[in-house]
Amino acid sequence: MNEVLKSIYERKSVRRFLPDQLKDEDILAIIEAGNQAPSGHNTQPVRFTILQDAALIDHINDAAKEVMKDSEVDWIRKFGSSERYHLLHKAPTVVIVSVRSDVYSPVADAAAAVENMLVAAHSLGIGSVWVGLISAYFQLPEANEKLQIREGYKPLYAVCFGYEDPKKVLAKPSRQPDVFDWIR
Ligand SMILES: Cc1cc2nc3c(=O)[nH]c(=O)nc-3n(C[C@H](O)[C@H](O)[C@H](O)COP(=O)(O)O)c2cc1C
Repeated sequence: MNEVLKSIYERKSVRRFLPDQLKDEDILAIIEAGNQAPSGHNTQPVRFTILQDAALIDHINDAAKEVMKDSEVDWIRKFGSSERYHLLHKAPTVVIVSVRSDVYSPVADAAAAVENMLVAAHSLGIGSVWVGLISAYFQLPEANEKLQIREGYKPLYAVCFGYEDPKKVLAKPSRQPDVFDWIR
């Protein structure tokens, strides 16, 4: 199997990280992988904010969980109230993915960039997880200023990065086998 397919097939969400920080060159390689993603009408609307301030990462967790406690969705309320749950999994590096507000396919553009980053991270031996629940934090008026989101951009996702804790390795969930119809 070629290396690209191997990384795609092996990639899984990692939620237990070692505290060790990643190398800057690896982070830059991951960001560039996100930047290489396709975008609708080639608008290239995605920006990346790299967070490595543990106090800010913890603050985002605390503030988002307060919002999640009031969610109409049962399982989100439960995460919000759980002592053990950390929204950003105490990752040493978190990347916020923002998209220009004026493009026609912002969610797809951001998602393409995120997936490229997840696969790139795996290929470098770095664990990652896509965090959509950070939308709870983005609802707060403070969010854009704290995250230094540029004018005209909207933050959509967070992605956590770090080395997987070898003592707390979780298996990748299995995939459904029957997922295509073939017309020919
Ligand atoms: C749009 C999206 C949002 C997600 N949000 C979260 C999240 O907030 N927290 C989290 O721990 N995982 C999140 N995930 C990761 C999924 O839970 C994970 O991809 C799924 O369980 C399959 O596991 P795998 O990534 O190991 O294959 C998200 C994934 C996607 C695609």
